[in-house]
Amino acid sequence: MAVREIIKIPDPMLKTVSKPIERVGDDVHALLDDMLQTMYAAPGIGLAAVQIGVPRRLVVIDLAKEDEEPQPIRLINPQVVWASDELAEYEEGCLSIPEVYDTVTRPAEVKVRYVDAGGDTVERHCDGLLATCIQHEIDHLDGILFIDHLSRLKRGRVVKKFTKAARQAKEAM
Ligand code: NI
Repeated sequence: MAVREIIKIPDPMLKTVSKPIERVGDDVHALLDDMLQTMYAAPGIGLAAVQIGVPRRLVVIDLAKEDEEPQPIRLINPQVVWASDELAEYEEGCLSIPEVYDTVTRPAEVKVRYVDAGGDTVERHCDGLLATCIQHEIDHLDGILFIDHLSRLKRGRVVKKFTKAARQAKEAM
């Protein structure tokens, strides 16, 4: 297992639509383990493979609190198959957009179908923080970031800030 580098905006990789996994083999297990380790080290509660530069449809999530045992969830090819009409608001953040938080409105409950680490297709009904987190991560697989759900003005401000920071970091090298 290894902690990988998390890519940040404005890296165009984050706009990539990730490709499905066709076979759950050792390579997929190793990647999921790296993703978990990277997420725990960050620390964060969710991570998509594209965030470590691998555009495949893999997501890891762990919503356990600090004093609880880890509860890792590994999702392969996850998709939302049902969403509630009822909406919920959460303050979201993203490891690829450090220190930016804003309120995003999404369906309050979703049913998600995915392949688990054992290769079985499962469906899971999600509500609360899990529903928000899963939708945020599945968005990553389609090249969508949480700031894409904000107003154009807010999004533009964030992108500008990170684009400037990236240019300055490059110039300093
Ligand atoms: Ni994110």
